Amino acid sequence: MIRSIVRGVGTALPRRIMKNAEFETLVDTTDEWIVQRTGIRQRHVAAEDETTASLGEAAARAALANAGLTPADIDMIVLATSTPNNTFPATAVEIQERLGMRHGFAFDMQAVCSGFVYAVTAADSHIRSGLARRVLVIGAETFSRILDWSDRTTCVLFGDGAGAVVMEAQEQPGLNTDRGVLTSHLRSDGRHKSKLYVDGGPSSTQTTGHLRMEGREVFKHAVGMITDVIRDAFAATGYTADDLDWFVPHQANRRIIDASAHKLGIDPAKVIITVDRHGNTSAASIPLALCAAIADGRIKRGDLVMLEAMGGGFTWGAALVRM
Ligand code: UT7
Repeated sequence: MIRSIVRGVGTALPRRIMKNAEFETLVDTTDEWIVQRTGIRQRHVAAEDETTASLGEAAARAALANAGLTPADIDMIVLATSTPNNTFPATAVEIQERLGMRHGFAFDMQAVCSGFVYAVTAADSHIRSGLARRVLVIGAETFSRILDWSDRTTCVLFGDGAGAVVMEAQEQPGLNTDRGVLTSHLRSDGRHKSKLYVDGGPSSTQTTGHLRMEGREVFKHAVGMITDVIRDAFAATGYTADDLDWFVPHQANRRIIDASAHKLGIDPAKVIITVDRHGNTSAASIPLALCAAIADGRIKRGDLVMLEAMGGGFTWGAALVRM
């Protein structure tokens, strides 16, 4: 059967690093509070000339180079983002243009922090159905642009960045030992809209708006939703937590990650953590974490990796991938 394998990965981060201490001069907070409650020590913040499109393009170019491919080899781009350059056209199409692609198609995927898992699933569906052979899956965000920098309950949590993977159709035996996406599971539930949303938009306020979050409420739901959808992925494949080589969760809060891994019985040594360096980069956090662990030699070809995310909507999802 046709499987979607990961052929290359790449990332891009804004030049400017903002450490927790900087927030002590902006709002009533401390480095100690931020580290204790979230695990975040620093995040990257985009300058004016760094946008979702430019970061996404840079991550895409890095992933293509890593795969030994050029834009000519790609037939589809899916960009997971909640911070597009414009309301329309899709920022994915802008990235397509920046890459010099005059063929294929590109679109944005809006599932907030779950965007990358949604985008991987969309890419996998296109590949397995024969609609695409090689797909650039990008997660790119500039959440710094939609933060209320006077709200200490949200502004300390997020960062900017981009990560990308090249996914490619490959014939595999059709077994659980195959390379590629083995299963993915997506969920959403709009009843939770008011717990995490942006208070603006073209059709409602004609403004961009700012991120609003009832953090404690999101936290309360996060661990249960994450562990449920991962159990769905285990049930679909027969694998268990012990079979995983690596757990690459969305990086929102160290405590959520630790609690989810603990509840699932995943060995803490198998958990990839980048929230300390990047903060919560929404749809970019999983490819940023994946790429970091590939670059430092932890994640290797053949490893069984669980990707997972939960975010605004609520949306949540998990994808089990053999590298
Ligand atoms: O990626 C999408 C999904 N998003 C998430 O997963 C985020 C989920 N939520 C969280 O990560 C956590 O709820 C937060 C990190 C946002 C907050 O941690 P918490 O342990 O849930 O704290 P809390 O909201 O219960 O607030 C505890 C206290 C409050 O003061 P009182 O009411 O106890 O007096 C807050 O006002 O901490 C206060 N507080 C702060 N203090 C210093 C809130 N933000 C700050 C701050 N610095 N930046």
